Amino acid sequence: MIVDDMLLTPGAVRDAERWTAHNYHPLPVVISSAEGAWVTDVDGKRYLDCLAGYSALNFGHRHPKLIATAHEQLDRLTLTSRAFIHDQFADFCHELADLCGTELVLPMNTGAEAVETAIKVARKWGYQVKGVPAGQATIVVADGNFHGRTTTIISFSTDPDARNDFGPYTPGFRIVPYGDLTALAEAIDETTVAVLLEPIQGEQGVVVPPTGYLPGVRQLCTEQNVLFLADEIQSGLGRTGATFALDHEGVKPDMYLLGKALGGGIVPVSAVAADKSVLGVLRPGEHGSTFGGNPLACAVATEVVRLLATGDFQRRSAELGARLHTALGGLVGEGLVAVRGRGLWAGIDIDPSLMTGRQACERLAARGVLAKDTHGSTIRLAPPLVVEPEELDFAVEQLRAILS
Ligand SMILES: Cc1ncc(COP(=O)(O)O)c(C=O)c1O
Repeated sequence: MIVDDMLLTPGAVRDAERWTAHNYHPLPVVISSAEGAWVTDVDGKRYLDCLAGYSALNFGHRHPKLIATAHEQLDRLTLTSRAFIHDQFADFCHELADLCGTELVLPMNTGAEAVETAIKVARKWGYQVKGVPAGQATIVVADGNFHGRTTTIISFSTDPDARNDFGPYTPGFRIVPYGDLTALAEAIDETTVAVLLEPIQGEQGVVVPPTGYLPGVRQLCTEQNVLFLADEIQSGLGRTGATFALDHEGVKPDMYLLGKALGGGIVPVSAVAADKSVLGVLRPGEHGSTFGGNPLACAVATEVVRLLATGDFQRRSAELGARLHTALGGLVGEGLVAVRGRGLWAGIDIDPSLMTGRQACERLAARGVLAKDTHGSTIRLAPPLVVEPEELDFAVEQLRAILS
């Protein structure tokens, strides 16, 4: 029999809490290895990963092709800086541009850096191409957004935890209700250079806007000569059953903001993709990053783009997503208040009289399923796209068990 004081987890949790700033509140699970959709903790307990690194692990843990590519690249060349060109760079930019249907790509590392890149490019485009008076550019964003944690990005967050006590805030942003085209139209004026939106708001609880909203945003942006910046960092690259969440409504933005899954769960890779008329405004020295577009990142991310180019992951996400949403729909009224989402991505609201989202995640973890609460009683489910149908059924069964 295993008794608690023989377990490694409690000590490992204590050490992690002792030596780090408390900017996260993780579940008390200490993972030491993983493969596919499963992770194993330091005590040998296995869990089905239903978070997938907030979509950074769309292809599962240690996808064999991605790991082989990373090993091969580690043995040849890892970093050059952008002072020189390396042999993995052009293929990555070219193949990602093809996947996005754009002319150019600009690689960075984290999602927040992709967002910062988009903001800088949109402002410069506004001054140089649209003719906005110097220093006047405005960008319209949505209530409930999550675009990252830098000081500029949290300046237009509506989440007090993300924002309070971190001012003074960067000016130049207008916040409108998500899903409301009239409010968006009213917020746009001659100073507006861009509308920055998540096609589905992940952090907010996988909130899908009303049908027709995203095409309406596209039309407004075109009519008003405003750039549509689509933050597909969490929603993109297969998660929703299409390459991009915007594909479901046949919408093409002026710029895609990508991250998370682009790094194959191995390295941080982000990028923005747009045409020359937009990204062409940048000149040497105006933007960059030491690690952005490094050889290891490019090699892995090129392989990611090739996995996506087959369409297999998107199809899998659509098919298994239908199975997941049907099963979850059956729990509405049985402990769940609402289910939202698209593809292998679901935001579920637990009846708050039963338990908090945190408690639900703790109970799921005890039953071998990892998920994470977002706001209050909302949990996000985003298993890797390699998950098997029976594994999804297992996850839903554990959810049913903790709700009953
Ligand atoms: C939609 C969206 N944009 C941007 C980010 C920021 O990405 P990162 O944490 O890599 O900076 C996230 C992270 O969760 C996100 O979900």
